[in-house]
Amino acid sequence: MSASVHTDVATPDLRLAIAPEESLLRVEHATVVFDGFKALDIDSFAVRPNEVRVVIGPNGAGKTTLCDVISGKTKLASGRCVFDGTDITKWKDFQIARRGVGRKFQTPSVFGSLTVREHLELAAPASRGVGSVLRNRRPSGRDGEILAVARAVGLEPLCDVAAAYLSHGQRQLLEIGTLLIAQPKLLLIDEPAAGLSDTETAAMAKLLRRLAGSHTVIVIEHDMDFVRQLEADVTVLNEGRILAEGPMSAVQADPRVIEAYLGR
Ligand SMILES: Nc1ncnc2c1ncn2[C@@H]1O[C@H](COP(=O)(O)OP(=O)(O)OP(=O)(O)O)[C@@H](O)[C@H]1O
Ligand SMILES: [Mg+2]
Repeated sequence: MSASVHTDVATPDLRLAIAPEESLLRVEHATVVFDGFKALDIDSFAVRPNEVRVVIGPNGAGKTTLCDVISGKTKLASGRCVFDGTDITKWKDFQIARRGVGRKFQTPSVFGSLTVREHLELAAPASRGVGSVLRNRRPSGRDGEILAVARAVGLEPLCDVAAAYLSHGQRQLLEIGTLLIAQPKLLLIDEPAAGLSDTETAAMAKLLRRLAGSHTVIVIEHDMDFVRQLEADVTVLNEGRILAEGPMSAVQADPRVIEAYLGR
């Protein structure tokens, strides 16, 4: 299958070369098929530990599908997915989450009546569940950990504020906080800058860059200003395939990327 990538390419591929021993995640020879339509056809997608990787590409390119595959929501028709040395291709989504993959979807989902602190308590492993949080509003002995996460995402001053009163940007930060509580190795974050102000966008970029010190972060994004602020390697998807991959400066100059995406 890997031979097929070379057939229709005139210019040399702009690609990152990441050896298996250097990678936290590898998606190899991977296809996803929906009703006969190949939504994903990836020869090799590899991510190093503690890097930020941005995935860009036009609508329908397969970006969310790639995250769905990594998180176990969607199963591969062929190929495999290796995370942290383990083949997780056939694992269920909750097993992959437990192994250290946190996923944030495009639209933030928070409970309006719960405070920032309560969201983080609920997300804590071995949480006693929503009922006990609602009945007994006392923190459950993990205050330090919860405050540290609230501080990390810049919401410490808002710990006792109900999510209904947060801005869209603050809700995005809260959702990232709920992921961090489980201390995932890999964070999959779908369009975190959508709908954010310039100031919030800059703060989000700074947060994700900082998280990369101790996590691997895969970010899907359309906002090119935000992508530049992430100062990360970029993978460009188009029609389910990897079109180009490398530093933003090189990707931006690639004629195929300009034609398929950036030049539009
Ligand atoms: N569950 C599904 N059933 C059928 N087709 C699907 C399904 N999920 C995605 N697709 C199709 O697969 C292709 C890739 O979709 P995907 O959502 O991964 O794109 P994307 O790159 O995330 O796009 P966007 O930038 O709009 O979010 C699209 O053609 C989409 O219509
Ligand atoms: Mg998407």
